[in-house]
Amino acid sequence: MSATAHPTSENRSTMNLNLTSKTAVVTGASRGIGLATVRRLVTEGVRVVGAARTITPELKETGALTVSADLSTAEGVTTLMTGALAELGGIDLLVNNVGAGDDLRAAGFLDTDDAQWLRNMDLNLLSTVRASRAALPSLIERRGAMVNVSSVSARQPGGSPVAYSAAKAALTATGKAMAEEFGPQGVRINTVSPGVVRTSIWEAPDGYGHQVAAEAGSEHASFLQGIPETFGLTTGRIIEADEVAALIVFLLSDVAGSITGVDHVIDGGAIKAL
Ligand SMILES: NC(=O)c1ccc[n+]([C@@H]2O[C@H](COP(=O)([O-])OP(=O)(O)OC[C@H]3O[C@@H](n4cnc5c(N)ncnc54)[C@H](OP(=O)(O)O)[C@@H]3O)[C@@H](O)[C@H]2O)c1
Repeated sequence: MSATAHPTSENRSTMNLNLTSKTAVVTGASRGIGLATVRRLVTEGVRVVGAARTITPELKETGALTVSADLSTAEGVTTLMTGALAELGGIDLLVNNVGAGDDLRAAGFLDTDDAQWLRNMDLNLLSTVRASRAALPSLIERRGAMVNVSSVSARQPGGSPVAYSAAKAALTATGKAMAEEFGPQGVRINTVSPGVVRTSIWEAPDGYGHQVAAEAGSEHASFLQGIPETFGLTTGRIIEADEVAALIVFLLSDVAGSITGVDHVIDGGAIKAL
């Protein structure tokens, strides 16, 4: 199976997304999919507030405004949204990307206690519920758009940590319900569900990918190399964070003006069912 090249900044499409001067909030912005999304939004002329616990040099370099907050807590989300509304004057675009985090552990159902369930729900579901509740009055006023980052684990929970996939399934359902409720008020809400994306989740030496490799009795490096085959990626390669960001930014733009309430899978062909 041969790998196909993915788009780079040199050969990106020049489709006009008309996002200049809009304002955006991106959660989980310090690395991975969130950072790639901030980069694309800033390039499109959007004024962005990016939030995570750590403000990385890479996030600072984008020129985005930053807020450091633990978004698994109600207080952390309040700090972010209060700061963002004050800095930006209003929110046109919301990207609820934060998720997975420190509690993504390769644990089975019987090894997942209440505390882990609740932490997974707080980060993967309630962070979005809380940020959306705070942003929606502004999104309604500005006829804005929202993208929530779920996971293919929501559709295909087998093999994923159960508290994570259940929280993501609830997130996908919440996105659909919000799209129905706020569509008539001019707000479009979509979900993006990635498969295996090259980020610290898989690549960090102490991260989830390392644990899954260890459980399978593999070296981390050879496990990473074998991911396309292991996960049935028809494209023959892992997805890049920037490819997910491109989809998110497209969905936020008016070019996608008739797309709402949809769960958009970006999985390199891993899901085999219709
Ligand atoms: N990578 C994949 O294969 C994959 C597949 C399906 C779905 N997803 C989803 O895609 C989203 C982004 O994942 P990613 O792969 O880009 O992950 P990542 O590289 O681990 O980045 C996660 C981001 O979230 C932030 N974060 C984590 N816990 C936080 C907390 N408690 N409060 C505030 N910020 C927090 C991290 O910064 P700090 O640690 O500094 O706070 C970082 O900026 C997640 O929702 C994940 O579930 C990823």
